[in-house]
Amino acid sequence: MDTNYSDKRISDSMEEALNKQMNAEAEQAQAYLALGVWADSNNYAGIAEFFYKHSEEEREHMFKFLEYINARGGTAKIGAIPAPRDNPTDLQSCIEDVWQHELDNSQKIYALVDKAMEEKDWATFNFMQWFVKEQIEEEALIDGLRDKFALASEDKGNNANFYSLDRDMQNAPQEAEIPRESKL
Ligand SMILES: [Fe+2]
Ligand SMILES: [Fe+2]
Repeated sequence: MDTNYSDKRISDSMEEALNKQMNAEAEQAQAYLALGVWADSNNYAGIAEFFYKHSEEEREHMFKFLEYINARGGTAKIGAIPAPRDNPTDLQSCIEDVWQHELDNSQKIYALVDKAMEEKDWATFNFMQWFVKEQIEEEALIDGLRDKFALASEDKGNNANFYSLDRDMQNAPQEAEIPRESKL
């Protein structure tokens, strides 16, 4: 597709900010993928599946930004993705890490909403509302996981609690599925 820059309907700085968030979503997809591998190798198969599915969701978010930037006459620029952080030490730190990650991402989304409002870029403002809503769901989802972990931890050493927590997470509602081809 030819790019006609005179048709660009987002500011240069908005294009840059949207690209930055697009790459942040790709980074999150990688981060969740790495956590899935970690959970799998620590015998939390349900949590691993939950993280793998969530990785796909983050990739879909990345794609939404990509399509929007291009649809507005901008150019999506795929950047390098930093390596995922070190593996968590245990399930609790893993969950807290994910929680913090989602809270940070909500702030990034709000900053884009602010910017769209400042620029009176109502198309981008409208586009970003989907992400505002999505972050409400994601925060609720991960907060639910934190609650389940807190409940399971009450009776310390009871592995059955963690077994049910793991099984629960496998069935936690998410929009994305793990790509079929990769299913064992
Ligand atoms: Fe996301
Ligand atoms: Fe997320």
